[in-house]
Amino acid sequence: MTKKKNKKGQRPKISPVVKARNRILRRPWRSQPGTPRVVSDYLAKAGLTCKLSTDLHEADLLSRFGDAAVEYLNSCGIDREVTAESHALTSPNLDMALAIRSKLWGDRYEEFLSWFTTANLPPVERVLDIGCDIGIHTCFFAMQFPYAEVTGFDQCMKCIQCAQRLAERLNLKNVQFLQATLPSLPEGLINRKFDMVVSSCVAGYFDDAPLTPVRSIEEAQAQPLGPKQVEYARIQAGFLANENSLLIACDRFVFPRTLARWIRGLREAGIYVHHDRIELLEFINAWDEPISIPVLVGSMRRTDLVTPDEIRKLWLVDFSGHGGELAYLMAAAEYFFLETSPKELLVGFRCTPPGAPTYCKELWKAGSSLLTYKYDASGGFLLEYDIENLPEILEGCRHAARADSDGGTVEEYGPEAYSQPPAGASDDSAADRPAGETPASEAVAGSGGQDVPGT
Ligand SMILES: C[S@@+](CC[C@H](N)C(=O)[O-])C[C@H]1O[C@@H](n2cnc3c(N)ncnc32)[C@H](O)[C@@H]1O
Repeated sequence: MTKKKNKKGQRPKISPVVKARNRILRRPWRSQPGTPRVVSDYLAKAGLTCKLSTDLHEADLLSRFGDAAVEYLNSCGIDREVTAESHALTSPNLDMALAIRSKLWGDRYEEFLSWFTTANLPPVERVLDIGCDIGIHTCFFAMQFPYAEVTGFDQCMKCIQCAQRLAERLNLKNVQFLQATLPSLPEGLINRKFDMVVSSCVAGYFDDAPLTPVRSIEEAQAQPLGPKQVEYARIQAGFLANENSLLIACDRFVFPRTLARWIRGLREAGIYVHHDRIELLEFINAWDEPISIPVLVGSMRRTDLVTPDEIRKLWLVDFSGHGGELAYLMAAAEYFFLETSPKELLVGFRCTPPGAPTYCKELWKAGSSLLTYKYDASGGFLLEYDIENLPEILEGCRHAARADSDGGTVEEYGPEAYSQPPAGASDDSAADRPAGETPASEAVAGSGGQDVPGT
């Protein structure tokens, strides 16, 4: 159908906001090829709309939700801890909450929910969704498992109210939502047990490990856990009813050190990761970047995996080959660094810039290579140089550490920082491999190295 022309013979201009609204109101959820019908139908029914460009998304929010949208948009991009209060700005009412989530996480919902339709899960009667937000996953579980009792909880009361509205809109009777801020649990959750416990993009809020120098997978595996992480693992284990109950965890730990901490935290709480069931979800995020998140299945049933081989298997079998994404390139670089042996620390700098987290930058010699390894508690990245460049690289590192830490502190350290011989030095899988055979030549530049909780 062609559009009518106005008196001057021109087509009337359609404002971007109207275009955006038309797309939202008229077009069904545009699913990716291969998305099961049940998922795309559910998302469309729930009210998830197409993913808009950032400009259209903002214009649409402003035109539909006025002051609430202004308050939300003003709060975006501010670097601060996500609290129940700040998260509530994303959910003043169900429609605005859905519009924001369509943009931020629409493709991730599609991928994650599709996983449930093909995962061959045993029948479940009691399902828990931890940190359920506005209940998009939770309501899908209630629809998919109509004979199950489904519970979702979140710290954010506004999100819980939206979740309840969503359940009403979908006419679901087997789902309930509770407000609860971990580690505290309300009456309704204490001592309750479930056959399936889901944690999606929540564990990152509990990764509070201290910054620990590690030079091998074994040391990554042995690094101390933070108290919050220990507690979160214990809480998840406490919800599992028996050996057959499953933890389905979709949390974005891609660096060997964060992956190792996470798996060890679960292990110490009595949850074993089923390595053969790991899958990577791959999707495009709100900024059109490719993202991957592993979905792990765990249970109290022992698996044959023993740390730290688990980390190698996870890396080599499941996560290698996903090199397109920067986080994965950096995580792969950390893996190569940890697996390079023998290597010798020449000098390290521990830097605390004012108001920023502490990071370390170290210079290592491995055969005829010089490695610079920079890391914070979330992970690190690696560059490789020829040993002949030692004087200038050393001077460059010293200079950069001082410049970066302007007004903060810089401590220089030497090999005594690693006074013990490397853990696992007798393990022939890594320690006996000649340095030249490791793929350390993969030079990866970048900064930050952060795992992102909840992208
Ligand atoms: C990134 S969102 C993920 C939401 C949902 N699970 C998903 O995958 O789309 C993280 C959620 O965890 C909740 N959360 C964070 N810390 C929490 C805590 N201590 N207790 C309960 N909920 C928490 C937040 O309010 C937020 O809704």
